[in-house]
Amino acid sequence: MSSESKPRILFSREEISATVSRLAAEIKQDYQGKHPLLLGILKGSFVLMADLIRLLNFPLEVEFIRLSSYGGSRQSSGRIKVVQGLRSPIKGRDILVIEDIVDTGLTISFLLDYLRQRKPASLKLCALTDKPSRRQVPVTIDYPGFTVPDEFIVGYGMDWNEQFRYLPELCSIEVED
Ligand code: PRP
Repeated sequence: MSSESKPRILFSREEISATVSRLAAEIKQDYQGKHPLLLGILKGSFVLMADLIRLLNFPLEVEFIRLSSYGGSRQSSGRIKVVQGLRSPIKGRDILVIEDIVDTGLTISFLLDYLRQRKPASLKLCALTDKPSRRQVPVTIDYPGFTVPDEFIVGYGMDWNEQFRYLPELCSIEVED
């Protein structure tokens, strides 16, 4: 049995919009003349992906991979599973991974290793939120959005037990396992 508090807003719609615009401007500058594959990690990245690509008016492709580590728990299990795999070739492509949050770093480290084995031309990471206080493995975020405190983050695609993904703000909740 678990329970959670009412979501408390950490970042407003306006702050998110400004940050996504900044990320898009940085990405546009770096990928001029390229044709990158933006790879979102499901489910949490789908809102960021939708907002970001509409600010990137250059040729790109979109793909998703579904990984899972948390299940219904607050803590990452550390056992990353590919729930739905890639359908696009990675070899020789410029890959930009789109992630909602880097917490322990275990999920993204797993994915970056998985992708490196497939020999992309380049591999970078954009993450809307970063929770460095809980990091277990080092991760370089090429396009970082917000730094968030050690609280459970929901909204803008992120969930608690599949709830709250619809919230337009980035919020924190107190949860009890
Ligand atoms: C969340 C989030 C990241 C990962 C980050 O995914 O979307 O992928 O955890 O945690 P880590 O840095 O500690 O590994 P989750 O497994 O909750 O799946 P979801 O995106 O479908 O909600």
